Amino acid sequence: MQTESKRIEGSQAAPARLRAGKEIVKKPGLAPNLSTYEQVYRSFDWQEAKKEIDYLSGGKLNAAYNALDRQLTNGRRNKVALYAVDAHEHLRKYTFQELADMTNRLGNALRSLGVNRGDRVFVYLPRIPELYAATLAIAKLGAVVGPLFSAFGPDALRDRLLDSEAKIVITDRSLKSKIDEVRQQLPDLEHVIIVGADPQALRQGEISYEKLVEQASDILECQAMDPEEPLYMLYTSGTTGKPKGVVHVHNDIIGQHMTSKWVLDLKEDDIYWCTADPGWVTGTVYSIFGPWSNGASVVAYEGRFEASNWYHLIQRLKITVWYTAPTALRMLMKAGDQMVYKHNLDSLRHILSVGEPLNPEVVRWGMKVFGLPIHDNWWQTETGMQLIANLPCLAVKPGSMGKPLPGVQAAIVNDEGVEVQTGQLGRLAIKPGWPSMLRAIWRNEEKFQEYFRIPGWYTTGDNAWKDEDGYFWFVGRADDVINTGGHRVGPFEVESALVEHPAVAEAGVIGKPDPERGEIIKAFVILNNGFTSSQSLIEELQEFTKMKLALHAYPREIEIKETLPKTRSGKIMRRLLKAWELGLPTGDTSSLEDD
Ligand code: PRX
Repeated sequence: MQTESKRIEGSQAAPARLRAGKEIVKKPGLAPNLSTYEQVYRSFDWQEAKKEIDYLSGGKLNAAYNALDRQLTNGRRNKVALYAVDAHEHLRKYTFQELADMTNRLGNALRSLGVNRGDRVFVYLPRIPELYAATLAIAKLGAVVGPLFSAFGPDALRDRLLDSEAKIVITDRSLKSKIDEVRQQLPDLEHVIIVGADPQALRQGEISYEKLVEQASDILECQAMDPEEPLYMLYTSGTTGKPKGVVHVHNDIIGQHMTSKWVLDLKEDDIYWCTADPGWVTGTVYSIFGPWSNGASVVAYEGRFEASNWYHLIQRLKITVWYTAPTALRMLMKAGDQMVYKHNLDSLRHILSVGEPLNPEVVRWGMKVFGLPIHDNWWQTETGMQLIANLPCLAVKPGSMGKPLPGVQAAIVNDEGVEVQTGQLGRLAIKPGWPSMLRAIWRNEEKFQEYFRIPGWYTTGDNAWKDEDGYFWFVGRADDVINTGGHRVGPFEVESALVEHPAVAEAGVIGKPDPERGEIIKAFVILNNGFTSSQSLIEELQEFTKMKLALHAYPREIEIKETLPKTRSGKIMRRLLKAWELGLPTGDTSSLEDD
C-alpha cells in the first residue's frame, strides 16, 4: 500500500498565493483551538468535555439550550447568529435573541397543538430561517426532530413519515404538494404547518405557520431531558430494505460542541458556512447544533450551486470557515482558477471537506487558489460527529481522512475484530464510547445490533487502511451502498422505485465511478413484454425515479438488458453487474442461477 508522504502543513504555514496575477501574502494564521494532538490524544477523557456543556438542574440536558438559550446570557445576545441569504441573494440577519424569539414562538405554538416530549416532528423546508428555528423549537420541547432533505420526492417522504409515525411536518408553500401526494397514506400525521401558505387554500389539517406563531409567546423554557433521550432521527440508506431511522440523543451535544471547536476550529469572530443541507447529518450537526453551541455566526444559503454565486457569497459575507464536500470542490475546480481570482476570498482561514473521498489533486488545487489546505474529515450519520480528521494542528496528508480525534479509538480490523498490520486493508471500526454514537435504529433492534456484530467494535461499513503516522485512508464501502455527490443512496431504494414503473420487470442498481460525483447511479433494467428500449423511455424512467425518490437519487445511466445475473435464491448480484461495468474479473460465480 502506498502512502502519499507529501504533507501540507497546517493553515498557519500556507504559502503566499496568487490572485489576478498578484502575489498575496497570507495573513498569519490563528492558533488552532486544539493546539497539540499527541498529548491531548493520550490524556483526553470525554468527562472533561462535559465542563463545556451547560446542564440543567439534576444532570438534565437540552441540546437546544446549549445551542441557543445559553448564548443569551453569556454576552452573545445581540451577536448575529444567522446570516440567511435567499435564492434571490437577499440577506437577512438574526441575532441570537431574534432567533430565540422566533424559536420560542414556534415552540409554544407546537405545544398548543399537543406536541409532547418524544413526539416526532419533521422539518421539510428549504434553507430558510424557519428551518433553523423549527429544528431548535422541536428540540426545546423535547420532541424528536426529523430533518428531511428538501429535494426528497413523495416516496422518500412517505417512507420516513410512515415509519417514524410523525405527528407534524413543517413545510412551505413550494414543497407542500409533495406531501399532498402521500398524505392519505400517513394515518399518524395530524398537522402540516406551511410557511407562506395561501390562507384561502388551506385544507383540513393544514395550518399557516405565520398565523400559528402570530399570537404565541416568545418565552419558552427548554424541556429538561435525560441525556439519553432522543434529539433527532435521520433516515439513512443501507444495502437492503428501506432507509432506516438513526436515532441520536441530547448527549450528542458534547461531541457536536467539541468537534465544532476542534475540527471546524470555530472562534468568536468566525463567520461560518456549511454548504450541506440540514436535511442531511452534516447540515443538522454542523450548521445548527455544533456551531451555535460554540456561539459562531452561521451562514444559510438558499441558492443553488453555481461557482460564481458561491465565491460571491464568501466575498460578500467575509466567510472565514467553510465546510463543504468533494463534489462541490471538484465542480469549483472545473469552473477554473480565474473564477476564484475574480473574487476577494481573503477572509477564508479554514476550509474543510466531508462525505466522500477528497482527491489529493483537489487539496493541491485548494492550496494554489485559496492558499489554504483543505481539511478532509470522516464520519457518518450513525456516528453523529466527526471522528477522524485532518486537524488544524496536524499536517494535512492529501488523500487521507486524517487521524482519530482525542477520545476516539479507530482501528482497521479483520472480520474477527483483530487489528491488522499498519498498511493493510481492513474494516474501519470504532470503539464505542464517543458521546454522539447512534443509540438506536428506530424500532429495529436487529439492524442496530448489526453495527456491533464484531465484538467490541462499532463497524462502519467502510474499508480503509492506516499508515505508519496513524493517518487513515479510505478505500471503499464494504457493501453496495452508493455515494453519489456525497449523498448516500441504497441500491434497493432505486431498484424498488424503478420496478414500480409499468415498463420495468426487474432492475439492478450499482454505483459507477465518476470523476466529478465520485459515483453515479447506474441501473440495469429488464423491460416487461410490450415495451421496447428507446431514449425516451430511458428519460421517462429517470424522471420517474427523480420524482419518487429525490433529485440526486435517479440513475444517470440506464442500460436495458435481456437478463440480470442472480443467485439461485433469486437475488440480483450487484457485484457481478459492477464487475461487468468496470471490465473486472467476475470472481466466484458458482451461485449464479444459470450455472
Ligand atoms: O463511506 C463513507 C463516506 O460517507 C459515508 C457516510 O455517509 P453519511 O452517513 O451520508 O454521512 C456523510 C457525512 C458525514 C461513510 O461511511 N464518507 C464520509 N466522509 C468521507 C467518506 N468517504 C471518504 N472520505 C471521507 N472523508
